[in-house]
Amino acid sequence: MSQTLAIVGAGRVGCVLGRRLRELGWCIGPVVTRSLATARAAVRAIGAGTPHGNLTRQVLAADVVLLATPDSTIAAVAQQLAQIGGSEWRGKVVLHTSGALSHAVLAPLRRVGACTGAMHPMQTFGRRSAPNLEGVVFGLDGDPAALRLARRMARLLGGIPVRVEPARRAAYHAAGGFAAQHTLVVLEAGIRILMRAGFTRRQATRALLALARQTLANLQAHGARDAWSGPVPRGDWDTVARHLAALRRLPPEYAEAYRALTRLAVRLLAPRPERWLAQLERVLGARGRMH
Ligand SMILES: NC(=O)c1ccc[n+]([C@@H]2O[C@H](COP(=O)([O-])OP(=O)(O)OC[C@H]3O[C@@H](n4cnc5c(N)ncnc54)[C@H](OP(=O)(O)O)[C@@H]3O)[C@@H](O)[C@H]2O)c1
Repeated sequence: MSQTLAIVGAGRVGCVLGRRLRELGWCIGPVVTRSLATARAAVRAIGAGTPHGNLTRQVLAADVVLLATPDSTIAAVAQQLAQIGGSEWRGKVVLHTSGALSHAVLAPLRRVGACTGAMHPMQTFGRRSAPNLEGVVFGLDGDPAALRLARRMARLLGGIPVRVEPARRAAYHAAGGFAAQHTLVVLEAGIRILMRAGFTRRQATRALLALARQTLANLQAHGARDAWSGPVPRGDWDTVARHLAALRRLPPEYAEAYRALTRLAVRLLAPRPERWLAQLERVLGARGRMH
């Protein structure tokens, strides 16, 4: 597979996918961002390509365009690209990397003859580290030709291609949010609580990461029901009330999150959720008066 790839939007995702595809034999063509400085930095990170600080018709030299700009800009960028190339888009493939959006957002390019698709890696890409793509699910969607190419690219990158229907993409993406942002913020909340109890950030992080890692290992090995521990599955309702009373000394979001997550845990994991929820509501309704 040695096609030429243009990358429009070379931030966290564009740079990592571009670099990996270059290592796997793809030829990297134009790399487009919003300024020449960021485009040059992206080319350095990718290890190939020609930098461009704005959308240019040189993108049309590529067989495939990876569009990795923020979700909110994809429609406008697609519109601009369609205007720049017109019928020259015929036969080319354009893939965006958004999880929540379907390939319908690329309609202007489709209308001028491009095959359009979405290729979303279900992985978190930070500014400071390139994540591993081995075993990562790629949520795909698109025209048959775009879908075929996206499938091949996902496999080449070591990922697992899964087709996600347009109407289900927002929910699919929200699921990723639970595993990434929500896990992160729940751990950060725990760290802050321990710091108020006298731990250093380093001690608190170490303590909770050990707990979280074991919980994830238990989930992987035995499933969520068996991995569920803590006062609720034991029926220690007084302990739950004590937690809530302690959390009242913190900003209100802590207790709100605790309540919402405890309800969700019971809904998803308790053997008889309705019965347990009734019991839980009595404790939550007591508004953590116990000390
Ligand atoms: N980050 C993740 O964990 C992750 C994971 C999976 C999928 N995604 C998806 O991947 C896409 C990109 O996300 P990201 O996190 O890589 O974003 P990002 O790091 O903010 O990078 C966005 C890139 O797009 C460029 N850009 C913004 N507006 C543009 C425009 N109008 N024309 C051309 N280039 C433009 C930016 O240029 P400058 O460099 O000049 O600012 C930057 O290079 C999004 O659809 C996101 O949902 C993200």
